[in-house]
Amino acid sequence: MTQQTPTVNPWSDDDNSAFLRLRMKTFWNFDYFEQIILPLLDIPQSGRVLDVGCGNGGISLLLADLRPDLSILGVDFEPKPLEDASAYAARNGLKNLTFEQGDAHNLKYEDESFDAVLCQTVLTHVRDAQTVIKEITRVLKLGGVFFAAEYTDSAMSNYDNVHFDKRGEDWYREYYRINLLFMKGKKALGRGDNTIGVRVPLLATQAGLDVYDVRLNDRAMHVFPPYRHEKQRNYLELVKTANIVDNDEKWLRLDIETVMAGGGTEEDGCWFHHAIDSAGIVKAIEEGTFTATGSFPLYLTFARKP
Ligand SMILES: C[S@@+](CC[C@H](N)C(=O)[O-])C[C@H]1O[C@@H](n2cnc3c(N)ncnc32)[C@H](O)[C@@H]1O
Repeated sequence: MTQQTPTVNPWSDDDNSAFLRLRMKTFWNFDYFEQIILPLLDIPQSGRVLDVGCGNGGISLLLADLRPDLSILGVDFEPKPLEDASAYAARNGLKNLTFEQGDAHNLKYEDESFDAVLCQTVLTHVRDAQTVIKEITRVLKLGGVFFAAEYTDSAMSNYDNVHFDKRGEDWYREYYRINLLFMKGKKALGRGDNTIGVRVPLLATQAGLDVYDVRLNDRAMHVFPPYRHEKQRNYLELVKTANIVDNDEKWLRLDIETVMAGGGTEEDGCWFHHAIDSAGIVKAIEEGTFTATGSFPLYLTFARKP
């Protein structure tokens, strides 16, 4: 197989938009978000909030629903998810939200203009997370709060009945070897750093912020036939969307391109792409046999501008 011209832009891809929309239902137990996260953020009444890399609206929409007093602005460099977020807000009568295009490395807002700045799974994708956090610090008011929910690649803490028995020591060795090449390639291509989640507290401190708490999101995935509970059905829908057949091989091309940029071969990229048996997962879901337990740990950094 010869490598085709790159590249997929994952953030304007329709399948990925559907995935990101669904994902919001699975990161958090909403009581945890409302009763633990919101009090820790302590955003003042009628405060101004910026959601950096808001995508389809993820955390902005959740916050807007719980705090209608806030004025929330979402910024992202991709127009398509922004249109999607605006349409969702309009459909759901959320009036306290605005979305606009912009680059997180160079925010077009005045110094000290927001009471809170949020970002969720964005710093892992930007070219230079340190610059973005400095920009966030600049636009925060004195006493304002920065909240980041970011992951660090944690490969294999999950169980599912499609893969578990098929993976031996050799598989894990190969997976971790190529995963490191993938992460190196992602950095080399300026598409982010999958190790950022655990380093946000340090980067925030270096930018002059006072980190006052670091936590994890709370939801654990659990899906067991007959999928009696809504949380389980949400996960099934999410997993199915994430494993939609790669008809035009765009995700395969992206994996190959990234692994090769990290020093791997085309075969490494193919192996990595097929390490997840997407067709097997979709089949098991359709047959009603899919079983899984796991998590997507997000490191939550809470920091204040002194
Ligand atoms: C994984 S998505 C997360 C979207 C949203 N925060 C959520 O939680 O659903 C990453 C988002 O970061 C955006 N992004 C990446 N680099 C960016 C940059 N330099 N400036 C603004 N947005 C950026 C992408 O367009 C994408 O929408």
